Amino acid sequence: MQSGFQQIPREDEEEAEEGAGTGITSTLILSVFTAVLGSLQFGYNIGVINAPQKIIEQSYNATWMERQGSEDPTPIDPGTLTTLWSLSVAIFSIGGMLSSFSVGIVSEWLGRKRAIIVNNALSFLGGAFMGLAQLGKSYEMMILGRFFIGAFSGFASGLIPMYVGEISPTHLRGALGTLNQLAIVIGILIAQVFGLEGLLGTEKLWPLLMGLTVLPSALQLLFFPFCPESPRYLYIVRNKESKAKESLKRLTGHADVTAALTEMKEEKRRMDLERKVSILQLFRCRIYRQPLLIAVVLQLSQQLSGINAIFYYSTDIFTKAGLEKPIYATIGAGVVNTVFTIISVFLVERAGRRTLHLLGLSGMCVCAILMTVSLLLLERVPVMSYLSMVAIFGFVAFFEIGPGPIPWFIVAELFSQGPRPAAMAVAGFANWTCNFIIGMSFPSIVEKTHAYVFLIFAGILVVFIAFTYFKVPETRGRTFDQIAATFRRTPSLLDREIKPYTELDELSPDMHE
Ligand SMILES: *[C@@H]1O[C@H](CO)[C@@H](O)[C@H](O)[C@H]1NC(C)=O
Repeated sequence: MQSGFQQIPREDEEEAEEGAGTGITSTLILSVFTAVLGSLQFGYNIGVINAPQKIIEQSYNATWMERQGSEDPTPIDPGTLTTLWSLSVAIFSIGGMLSSFSVGIVSEWLGRKRAIIVNNALSFLGGAFMGLAQLGKSYEMMILGRFFIGAFSGFASGLIPMYVGEISPTHLRGALGTLNQLAIVIGILIAQVFGLEGLLGTEKLWPLLMGLTVLPSALQLLFFPFCPESPRYLYIVRNKESKAKESLKRLTGHADVTAALTEMKEEKRRMDLERKVSILQLFRCRIYRQPLLIAVVLQLSQQLSGINAIFYYSTDIFTKAGLEKPIYATIGAGVVNTVFTIISVFLVERAGRRTLHLLGLSGMCVCAILMTVSLLLLERVPVMSYLSMVAIFGFVAFFEIGPGPIPWFIVAELFSQGPRPAAMAVAGFANWTCNFIIGMSFPSIVEKTHAYVFLIFAGILVVFIAFTYFKVPETRGRTFDQIAATFRRTPSLLDREIKPYTELDELSPDMHE
């Protein structure tokens, strides 16, 4: 899930070399580090509710009974408890959904840096509500806290890649952009380790585990005054040339920033040329229909693959699989996740997106079937508990090879500058919505289907494999024009009309550079 594995568009990596200087300056390092603290926190909050589930559920139960005030209180009904817990997990995505939709507006209005700073208010609010929920004897506070931290994460998942992408010299943009993704998975891992019973995953300390999320925020506030605002924002959006120059000088360490400035002027000229496309226009205009369908279905393939079921509930799954120390298996999954995120960085630029996405989905499908088999045979064949562990590790590894990073790439690559922001917003919305659906429904589906739950994911995965095979074009190393041409040649099964070339010509001047 990770939700929001946003990747910055990389189409101009090739034209890099002659641009900005070669140097990685201390200001640049500090700025990137400070910014991705927010991504770390995003990951932390994805992973943090996994291990202490049982403990927090007990606390909800205790609160429920205390509120009755009678001498012989009735314990919470298991169904209600499942609902309350699922809501605590999943409302995170509602917060993310709402805020990721407004990233564009906020980042233009406040600027990238100030928006990231102001966003921390949501983090402190969320951290406080979650950290004090036990003290206040209120699961409502916990749920509200998860909502705020979700809203924080939604903004962070859009603002931070944007800022990092804009302050990086062109030739480092890809590399620094992946640091953002790495920060998210490391955040997940840290949360899983802190959730250990020997550390913070205890009856007394879980509020601290939840509240700890404010620590990266505090660090970010401490360091951000020493980081410059994005020069692209200053120049392209605000038209403040001297301030942009100042920022560029600090980031590059060079007194002469003419080259970088020229590049930005070119970018501004191009952006002024192409009309911005609103979300409504995106849905109305026929030439966007096919790429939009692909963008949205790939987001669905990321979320409905069941990956978040693992990141939110793996400890619970492992417990049911009969592992003695389920938390270590969860941490193992976190390590596999981190390692394969690093591997995918190298793979994605070498193999095609379509190939990797197909490979990833197919691998996940096989692992889901293995998981079902091992869970079913568990009673009779004890060694199956290890097979289930291997299956989960494989599931996570294959996710990071394709379905994790690629849906975000593809959205950026399928659309040119004009419709891209609207397309990103729609894709983000689809992503967070599915994230919510999985977080909310997984526990009750498990209750009804038991081991067969992963068979459902396997079935869904088969559908997405077929869709990717028949509908998704390869985008690696192609220009927008070539990608658009693919859509003209292959008439869609759903939408048989073939778009006339001229229509495309008029609407997207940018596609024909
Ligand atoms: C709630 O707590 C009571 C008393 O400790 C216990 O008997 C009951 O099983 C718990 N209910 C759930 C759903 O955990």
